[in-house]
Amino acid sequence: MLIKSAEFVMSNSDVAKCPKSRLPEYAFIGRSNVGKSSLINMLTGRKSLAKTSGKPGKTQLINHFLINKNWHLVDLPGYGYAKVSKSAKKVFQKFITQYFLLREQLVNAFILVDIRHKPQPIDLEFMEWLGENGIPFSIIFTKADKLKPNAILRHVEDYKTELLKTWEDIPIYFITSSSKDIGKYDILNYIEQLNGN
Ligand code: GTP
Ligand code: MG
Repeated sequence: MLIKSAEFVMSNSDVAKCPKSRLPEYAFIGRSNVGKSSLINMLTGRKSLAKTSGKPGKTQLINHFLINKNWHLVDLPGYGYAKVSKSAKKVFQKFITQYFLLREQLVNAFILVDIRHKPQPIDLEFMEWLGENGIPFSIIFTKADKLKPNAILRHVEDYKTELLKTWEDIPIYFITSSSKDIGKYDILNYIEQLNGN
Protein backbone atom coordinates (compact mmCIF):
# COMPACT_ATOMS: atom_id res chain seq x y z
CA MET A 1 0.00 0.00 0.00
CA LEU A 2 1.19 3.48 -0.84
CA ILE A 3 0.24 6.34 1.44
CA LYS A 4 -1.38 9.05 -0.66
CA SER A 5 -2.77 11.09 2.19
CA ALA A 6 -2.45 11.20 5.97
CA GLU A 7 -4.37 13.75 7.98
CA PHE A 8 -4.76 14.36 11.69
CA VAL A 9 -8.45 14.09 12.58
CA MET A 10 -8.83 14.59 16.33
CA SER A 11 -7.51 13.90 19.82
CA ASN A 12 -9.65 13.03 22.79
CA SER A 13 -9.83 11.06 25.99
CA ASP A 14 -13.33 9.72 25.50
CA VAL A 15 -14.07 6.80 23.21
CA ALA A 16 -17.64 8.05 22.77
CA LYS A 17 -16.25 11.16 21.06
CA CYS A 18 -13.99 9.30 18.61
CA PRO A 19 -14.88 9.64 14.89
CA LYS A 20 -18.33 8.22 14.17
CA SER A 21 -17.40 6.83 10.75
CA ARG A 22 -17.22 3.05 10.35
CA LEU A 23 -13.85 3.09 8.60
CA PRO A 24 -11.56 0.22 9.60
CA GLU A 25 -9.21 1.22 12.36
CA TYR A 26 -5.74 0.12 13.52
CA ALA A 27 -4.34 1.10 16.92
CA PHE A 28 -0.71 1.35 18.00
CA ILE A 29 0.05 0.81 21.66
CA GLY A 30 2.92 -0.17 23.94
CA ARG A 31 5.06 1.11 26.77
CA SER A 32 5.93 4.79 26.90
CA ASN A 33 8.91 5.68 24.73
CA VAL A 34 8.79 2.39 22.78
CA GLY A 35 8.47 4.37 19.55
CA LYS A 36 4.75 4.39 18.71
CA SER A 37 4.59 7.93 17.40
CA SER A 38 7.86 7.53 15.47
CA LEU A 39 6.52 4.37 13.85
CA ILE A 40 3.36 6.17 12.78
CA ASN A 41 5.49 8.87 11.17
CA MET A 42 7.55 6.22 9.37
CA LEU A 43 4.45 4.39 8.13
CA THR A 44 2.85 7.55 6.81
CA GLY A 45 6.07 9.07 5.51
CA ARG A 46 5.25 12.30 7.41
CA LYS A 47 8.06 13.34 9.73
CA SER A 48 5.97 15.05 12.35
CA LEU A 49 2.41 13.83 11.91
CA ALA A 50 2.47 12.20 15.37
CA LYS A 51 4.39 14.07 18.06
CA THR A 52 7.47 12.23 19.30
CA SER A 53 9.76 12.91 22.23
CA GLY A 54 12.86 11.62 23.99
CA LYS A 55 10.87 11.91 27.22
CA PRO A 56 8.33 9.17 27.92
CA GLY A 57 4.70 10.19 28.31
CA LYS A 58 4.45 12.45 25.25
CA THR A 59 1.23 11.03 23.79
CA GLN A 60 -1.57 11.46 26.32
CA LEU A 61 -4.73 11.15 24.26
CA ILE A 62 -6.40 8.94 21.65
CA ASN A 63 -5.22 10.44 18.34
CA HIS A 64 -7.02 9.58 15.11
CA PHE A 65 -5.36 9.96 11.71
CA LEU A 66 -7.20 9.40 8.43
CA ILE A 67 -5.10 7.51 5.90
CA ASN A 68 -5.83 7.46 2.15
CA LYS A 69 -9.31 8.66 3.12
CA ASN A 70 -10.30 5.06 3.83
CA TRP A 71 -8.88 3.87 7.15
CA HIS A 72 -7.96 5.25 10.54
CA LEU A 73 -4.67 4.90 12.28
CA VAL A 74 -4.71 5.54 16.03
CA ASP A 75 -1.82 6.67 18.22
CA LEU A 76 -2.42 5.89 21.88
CA PRO A 77 -0.63 6.93 25.08
CA GLY A 78 2.01 4.58 26.42
CA TYR A 79 1.27 2.34 29.33
CA GLY A 80 3.55 1.56 32.25
CA TYR A 81 5.31 4.86 32.61
CA ALA A 82 6.25 5.32 36.26
CA LYS A 83 6.62 9.09 36.23
CA VAL A 84 3.02 9.85 35.34
CA SER A 85 1.10 10.40 38.60
CA LYS A 86 -1.05 7.54 39.88
CA SER A 87 -4.28 9.41 39.26
CA ALA A 88 -3.22 10.32 35.70
CA LYS A 89 -2.32 6.66 35.12
CA LYS A 90 -5.77 5.55 36.24
CA VAL A 91 -7.43 7.98 33.83
CA PHE A 92 -5.21 6.72 30.98
CA GLN A 93 -5.91 3.12 31.80
CA LYS A 94 -9.61 3.75 31.92
CA PHE A 95 -9.88 5.39 28.52
CA ILE A 96 -7.45 2.99 26.87
CA THR A 97 -9.44 0.05 28.24
CA GLN A 98 -12.71 1.64 27.10
CA TYR A 99 -11.23 2.30 23.69
CA PHE A 100 -10.33 -1.36 23.16
CA LEU A 101 -13.57 -2.72 24.58
CA LEU A 102 -15.96 -0.34 22.84
CA ARG A 103 -14.39 0.58 19.52
CA GLU A 104 -16.16 -1.78 17.16
CA GLN A 105 -14.36 -0.61 14.05
CA LEU A 106 -10.98 -1.61 15.51
CA VAL A 107 -9.60 -4.30 13.18
CA ASN A 108 -6.24 -4.94 14.80
CA ALA A 109 -4.08 -3.66 17.64
CA PHE A 110 -0.35 -3.44 17.07
CA ILE A 111 1.55 -3.94 20.32
CA LEU A 112 4.97 -2.34 20.15
CA VAL A 113 7.86 -3.80 22.15
CA ASP A 114 11.46 -2.62 22.22
CA ILE A 115 13.51 -5.36 20.58
CA ARG A 116 16.38 -4.79 23.03
CA HIS A 117 14.43 -5.81 26.11
CA LYS A 118 13.39 -9.15 27.54
CA PRO A 119 9.63 -9.80 27.44
CA GLN A 120 8.11 -7.45 30.03
CA PRO A 121 5.23 -8.59 32.26
CA ILE A 122 3.19 -5.47 31.44
CA ASP A 123 3.28 -6.26 27.69
CA LEU A 124 2.55 -9.95 28.18
CA GLU A 125 -0.33 -9.12 30.52
CA PHE A 126 -1.75 -6.63 28.05
CA MET A 127 -1.62 -9.23 25.25
CA GLU A 128 -3.40 -11.71 27.51
CA TRP A 129 -6.05 -9.13 28.30
CA LEU A 130 -6.59 -8.49 24.56
CA GLY A 131 -6.82 -12.25 23.98
CA GLU A 132 -9.38 -12.66 26.78
CA ASN A 133 -11.46 -9.92 25.21
CA GLY A 134 -11.20 -11.30 21.69
CA ILE A 135 -9.27 -8.33 20.31
CA PRO A 136 -6.88 -9.33 17.50
CA PHE A 137 -3.32 -8.10 17.81
CA SER A 138 0.12 -8.33 16.24
CA ILE A 139 3.52 -7.51 17.71
CA ILE A 140 5.87 -4.86 16.38
CA PHE A 141 9.47 -5.04 17.55
CA THR A 142 10.88 -1.50 17.49
CA LYS A 143 14.36 0.06 17.39
CA ALA A 144 15.96 -2.84 15.48
CA ASP A 145 18.73 -0.44 14.41
CA LYS A 146 20.04 -0.68 17.98
CA LEU A 147 20.98 -4.38 17.66
CA LYS A 148 23.18 -6.42 15.32
CA PRO A 149 21.32 -8.88 13.04
CA ASN A 150 22.20 -11.99 15.08
CA ALA A 151 21.11 -10.29 18.30
CA ILE A 152 17.80 -9.36 16.63
CA LEU A 153 17.17 -13.01 15.80
CA ARG A 154 18.14 -14.13 19.30
CA HIS A 155 15.86 -11.58 20.99
CA VAL A 156 12.93 -12.52 18.74
CA GLU A 157 13.47 -16.22 19.47
CA ASP A 158 13.53 -15.51 23.22
CA TYR A 159 10.31 -13.55 22.88
CA LYS A 160 8.64 -16.40 21.01
CA THR A 161 9.72 -18.88 23.68
CA GLU A 162 8.10 -16.69 26.32
CA LEU A 163 4.89 -16.30 24.29
CA LEU A 164 4.59 -20.05 23.78
CA LYS A 165 4.22 -20.42 27.55
CA THR A 166 0.80 -18.78 27.20
CA TRP A 167 -0.21 -18.90 23.55
CA GLU A 168 -0.66 -21.85 21.24
CA ASP A 169 0.45 -19.84 18.24
CA ILE A 170 2.86 -16.96 17.84
CA PRO A 171 1.01 -13.82 16.75
CA ILE A 172 2.08 -12.20 13.50
CA TYR A 173 5.07 -9.98 14.23
CA PHE A 174 7.13 -7.31 12.49
CA ILE A 175 10.71 -6.16 12.99
CA THR A 176 11.05 -2.42 12.52
CA SER A 177 13.27 0.60 12.82
CA SER A 178 11.73 4.01 12.39
CA SER A 179 15.10 5.67 12.11
CA LYS A 180 16.23 3.28 9.35
CA ASP A 181 12.84 2.89 7.65
CA ILE A 182 12.73 -0.88 8.27
CA GLY A 183 9.48 -2.85 8.25
CA LYS A 184 7.30 -0.11 6.80
CA TYR A 185 5.82 -2.00 3.86
CA ASP A 186 5.43 -5.27 5.79
CA ILE A 187 3.04 -3.44 8.11
CA LEU A 188 1.31 -1.38 5.41
CA ASN A 189 0.76 -4.47 3.26
CA TYR A 190 -0.62 -6.37 6.23
CA ILE A 191 -3.09 -3.54 6.89
CA GLU A 192 -4.03 -3.53 3.20
CA GLN A 193 -4.67 -7.25 3.37
CA LEU A 194 -6.87 -6.86 6.47
CA ASN A 195 -8.71 -3.98 4.80
CA GLY A 196 -9.49 -6.40 1.98
CA ASN A 197 -8.25 -4.24 -0.88
P1 GTP B 1 5.04 8.13 24.29
O1 GTP B 1 4.13 8.90 23.40
O2 GTP B 1 5.76 9.00 25.26
O3 GTP B 1 4.39 6.96 24.94
O4 GTP B 1 6.27 7.54 23.41
P2 GTP B 1 6.22 6.81 21.98
O5 GTP B 1 6.07 5.35 22.18
O6 GTP B 1 5.26 7.49 21.07
O7 GTP B 1 7.73 7.04 21.49
P3 GTP B 1 8.30 8.12 20.46
O8 GTP B 1 7.93 7.76 19.06
O9 GTP B 1 7.98 9.49 20.94
O10 GTP B 1 9.87 7.81 20.57
C1 GTP B 1 10.54 7.79 21.82
C2 GTP B 1 12.04 7.95 21.59
O11 GTP B 1 12.57 6.80 20.91
C3 GTP B 1 12.42 9.14 20.73
O12 GTP B 1 13.60 9.70 21.23
C4 GTP B 1 12.65 8.54 19.35
O13 GTP B 1 13.55 9.26 18.56
C5 GTP B 1 13.24 7.17 19.71
N1 GTP B 1 12.94 6.16 18.68
C6 GTP B 1 11.72 5.83 18.20
N2 GTP B 1 11.81 4.88 17.25
C7 GTP B 1 13.14 4.61 17.11
C8 GTP B 1 13.90 3.71 16.27
O14 GTP B 1 13.38 2.95 15.45
N3 GTP B 1 15.25 3.69 16.44
C9 GTP B 1 15.86 4.49 17.35
N4 GTP B 1 17.19 4.40 17.45
N5 GTP B 1 15.21 5.37 18.13
C10 GTP B 1 13.85 5.42 18.02
MG1 MG C 1 3.81 8.85 21.44
